Amino acid sequence: MNILSPSILAADCSILGEQIKQADRAGAQYIHIDVMDGVFVPSISYGMNVISGIRKTTDKVFDVHLMIVDPLRYIEEFANAGADIITFHLEAAEDVMAVVDKIHSLGKKAGITIKPGTPVDTLIPYLDKVEMILIMTVEPGFGGQKLIPASFDRIRQLRSMLDERGLSTDIEVDGGIYTDNLKDILDAGANVIVSGSGVFKGDITKNVETFLDIMK
Ligand code: DX5
Ligand code: ZN
Repeated sequence: MNILSPSILAADCSILGEQIKQADRAGAQYIHIDVMDGVFVPSISYGMNVISGIRKTTDKVFDVHLMIVDPLRYIEEFANAGADIITFHLEAAEDVMAVVDKIHSLGKKAGITIKPGTPVDTLIPYLDKVEMILIMTVEPGFGGQKLIPASFDRIRQLRSMLDERGLSTDIEVDGGIYTDNLKDILDAGANVIVSGSGVFKGDITKNVETFLDIMK
């Protein structure tokens, strides 16, 4: 199934709850929450406190993207704050399976993500161990960047790796996705679509509806 996961990194923080409700009402299935620690990526965003605050504004799935070093250390706190899916960077984990097992032990779905420079086949040992793989389509750290064109081949490569194994693991994509490149992204094999600027800049309701229309 195709799913839209608007990234609140591009939302207006002074009315964050309202904007989330708007995306929810327009039909977005997930809410994408980018956690940045200023170490794994240059920028700092927000943490558990914000997540538990906005948890009261919607019942939609909280899709938490951790851009932090040593993710194992904080999994339990993000789970308690209201995360439903917790995705961490392969590059940031010392023991990848320990993080996956921790997420599952808390009853949450696990995702693994890789930066644009990390080979897709490094994911092979984990393909059947997680519910979702996130292919970053920009360098993580900031919203509003341009999608890296080599991403299309990386998505296709992952889709065929999953198909060969008969796996239905979700493929999420994140960074520089707008309604004008969405069809190509879907054709390459992605099915969970993150968009920050594409949803929260301009008319949120209209943007979500346009995304969902193309994704039908
Ligand atoms: C980037 C974040 C993205 C970001 C996407 O590090 O992981 O989720 O918010 O923003 P846009 O859609 O504006 O590129
Ligand atoms: Zn993200």
